[in-house]
Amino acid sequence: MSQDQDFRPVLEQIAEEIGTLPDRGRPADYIPALACADPGRFGMAVADLDGHVYGVGDWRTPFSAQSITKVFTLALVLAKEGEALWDRVGREPSGNPFNSLVQLEYENGIPRNPFINAGALVVTDRLQTLGGDAAGELLSFLRAESGNPGLAVNTEVVASESAHGDRNAALAHFMASYGNVTGPVPVLLEHYFRQCSIEASCEDLALAAGFLARHGIRADGSRLLSRSQAKQVNAVMLTCGTYDAAGDFAYRVGLPGKSGVGGGIIAVVPGRCTLCVWSPGLDRRGNSVAGVTALDRFTTLTGLSVF
Ligand code: DON
Repeated sequence: MSQDQDFRPVLEQIAEEIGTLPDRGRPADYIPALACADPGRFGMAVADLDGHVYGVGDWRTPFSAQSITKVFTLALVLAKEGEALWDRVGREPSGNPFNSLVQLEYENGIPRNPFINAGALVVTDRLQTLGGDAAGELLSFLRAESGNPGLAVNTEVVASESAHGDRNAALAHFMASYGNVTGPVPVLLEHYFRQCSIEASCEDLALAAGFLARHGIRADGSRLLSRSQAKQVNAVMLTCGTYDAAGDFAYRVGLPGKSGVGGGIIAVVPGRCTLCVWSPGLDRRGNSVAGVTALDRFTTLTGLSVF
């Protein structure tokens, strides 16, 4: 494949195939503000290393980024405190649902990885402790990397997450009892819900993830992560980014990826390009049905995977 490949034909073929999928799953309903999303929507974008973006379908429509943001908070904390983070959160797949509480007591309040909700709460607590405005810092980073100053938090989704956030509150309080959340829990939850409620399009998120394909280099050419740290984030995405479906995602797609219950998934072809796909219908593990299928077809049709 040449480096200046035009991805449009392959994206158009994928969109056509997705149009014939018999079952696209159902939108998340445990956050009521997400339940009304239309599972018929589908968008996909590919950004190359220079920031050129190819897209199809609803690739410029903003959607709720949700857990996709966990990749960016992880990167921001690693950039600030490096290895010290790993004393507070592991990097093993959990094999359990993203919002599970069950392992935390056996494992002394140390979450299995930074992408399940417990682990992401620890990461956001670190970002808040180290910088004082976790959600604001994340939003500035996403705006800068996507080149879209219009990115914003959807306050209706924040209110909905907050009103139905008992499980996240339980996780945060439980970890605080082990000393693994150091700031005030209400402040942490506010920033975590704001983080999850950022809206961005496939175009925005494919661009924002670019530093992971550029081995740690941001859009403006400055370095966020060392080459080795970028490898580590990609590795944790591959092994943990789609929760208890990470094995199946790696088998089908063969790329580091991170899903969100808004129906988005980002994926990285290191040294080559980044992708973001969105379709709100989820499978029972919280991953977009059309999204996983589209990424599976992309790596199959182009041969661009890490394997
Ligand atoms: O905290 C939650 O449950 C949601 N705001 C985010 C969960 C999520 O996106 C999991 N991803 N598939």
